Amino acid sequence: MRIETGVNLKAYNTFGLPAAADTLVHIYNDGDIDDLLAHPVYGAAPKLVLGGGSNLVLSGAPQGVVLRVAIMGRRLLREEPGAWIVEAGAGEEWPDLVAWTLDQGWPGLENLALIPGTVGAAPVQNIGAYGVELQARFESLDAVDLRDGRRFSLNAGACRFGYRDSIFKHQLAGGCLITRVRLRLPRPWQAMLSYPDLRRECPPSSDARRIFDAVCALRQAKLPDPKRLGSAGSFFKNPVIHRDRLESVKATDPGCVCYPLPDGNVKLSAGRLIEACGWKGKSMGRAAVYAKQALVIVNQGGATGQEILALATAIQESVYDRFGIRLEIEPVVL
Ligand code: EPU
Repeated sequence: MRIETGVNLKAYNTFGLPAAADTLVHIYNDGDIDDLLAHPVYGAAPKLVLGGGSNLVLSGAPQGVVLRVAIMGRRLLREEPGAWIVEAGAGEEWPDLVAWTLDQGWPGLENLALIPGTVGAAPVQNIGAYGVELQARFESLDAVDLRDGRRFSLNAGACRFGYRDSIFKHQLAGGCLITRVRLRLPRPWQAMLSYPDLRRECPPSSDARRIFDAVCALRQAKLPDPKRLGSAGSFFKNPVIHRDRLESVKATDPGCVCYPLPDGNVKLSAGRLIEACGWKGKSMGRAAVYAKQALVIVNQGGATGQEILALATAIQESVYDRFGIRLEIEPVVL
């Protein structure tokens, strides 16, 4: 474990938001967690697990000790007739894991290419893109209860995955640290081309590499590169409304984008609602709505968490005034 004091967390969150941490502890292995919990000062202090900081809005100085998980390692755990089971340390970069599994000849993660963040953060928000959510490729994970050091494992059911949601945003919020994640990559491999944009780019005979390349190209065209422009990906969830309300949304915005769900409800494109309210490309202070995808809020340089949240609130108010729909913030706000 490595302990730093008086650290600006700007370099540790993809939004690039400043926040002063009294103590930042880098966790490299399981033994570091035991040492931390036994530490005379930090053991009992409140703890914030930072992960890759890719789905986070830091709006002030965090209380207690901030933990950066840097547990590395990736391996094929076993090969079953119906799947490759791959395990990775929580500190591995998710995009690297996707590329590596593909290079090894274990496809299945290609639709989730280039999603910023760490492996340990992926189950927290059940990352998803281009027709695949993590839960469809998830086997189990290992975690530590930060109150008493107890180790436990959770399978997919126990993680209570939902749309950008899991038990780690509710009952286990702030209380545990994910150390390792295991993925189940089904074999024989099958292309997942349900997402319209992807189907346009990839014929049904496409192999995993072609899908990977197409997903990378789509993301690079629509989403900011977190190394150059700070963001946390989509800032709001796509809202779900009862089908009876669709007509009134269409009356307000004939171009609204909607996806019927199996339960009869309708998911709307939040990006479209925000665009229809005139926000695309607009800024407020140093926060802005990304010009190529209105669902993404970006830090134009030097923005604070408060500025990001002020813009988010203004967007929520105009979408509510125009459509009567409350947009829910997707990243964790601290
Ligand atoms: N659209 C607009 N204007 C916009 C943005 C979108 O009209 O400014 C419409 C377009 O018709 C577009 C459609 O909405 O074709 C869908 O847009 P996109 O494919 O970009 O997907 P999304 O619904 O806006 C979701 C995820 C993304 C994920 C993409 C692709 C959420 C909150 N976001 O965005 O995930 O990459 O689908 O699967 O579900 C993330 O979670 O951080 C993220 C980037």
